[in-house]
Amino acid sequence: MRIDIITCLPRLLDSFFAHSILKRAQDAGHVAVHAHDLRDYSLNKQRQIDDYAFGGGAGMVMTIEPIARCIRHLQSQRTYDAVLYMTPDGERFEQKMANRLSMVQNLIILCGHYKGVDERVRELFITQEISIGDYVLSGGELAACVVSDAIIRLIPGVLNDETSALTDSFQDNLLAPPVYTRPADFEGHAVPAVLLSGHEAHINDWRFEQSLVRTRQRRPDLLP
Ligand code: ADE
Repeated sequence: MRIDIITCLPRLLDSFFAHSILKRAQDAGHVAVHAHDLRDYSLNKQRQIDDYAFGGGAGMVMTIEPIARCIRHLQSQRTYDAVLYMTPDGERFEQKMANRLSMVQNLIILCGHYKGVDERVRELFITQEISIGDYVLSGGELAACVVSDAIIRLIPGVLNDETSALTDSFQDNLLAPPVYTRPADFEGHAVPAVLLSGHEAHINDWRFEQSLVRTRQRRPDLLP
């Protein structure tokens, strides 16, 4: 998979993709992540990428030309399956969307700033608008990182034990069960005995039951 992230703050993404699972996924060739500085595609010397809103009002709007030039440049190199725009008024990002996006080859993610992008960007270039939740961030970069992380960990081979993505919370619309490790007893607080029993079927039954209990208590909206 290849992910191209268009942003006016490319350095903001560096450390996020330079560690842990996301770094290993890139080193192993499962994914290539490229950040593109929108100012490199600006039409003027000041490398300007925003302007005042027509009709007045507070806040700047990201102009269409640099975005169009950047997206067209990328699209001249390869075919993209989707061009995502991170925005609080987009479709809510959920595990099902991550599952679907993890199967594509090439992805562009556009990060918004200020009052957002000129509406014509959305009409002409964007195939899907995504929000990571009902709150407003200073820019789309954090949201692009969230979406990329959720997608990349689902690419087969990225996690050491492939089943561990399948047992994540939200796969099957259930929250994950509680997990424990050593010590088996911490100051009188013991690990549930079934987990020490070595009986795989009993352990699986217990985990499923706990998933149901947890989902019923915390997220009943996920249950049918
Ligand atoms: N940009 C600003 N806020 C956002 C959000 N909640 N989701 C996606 N992109 C955003």
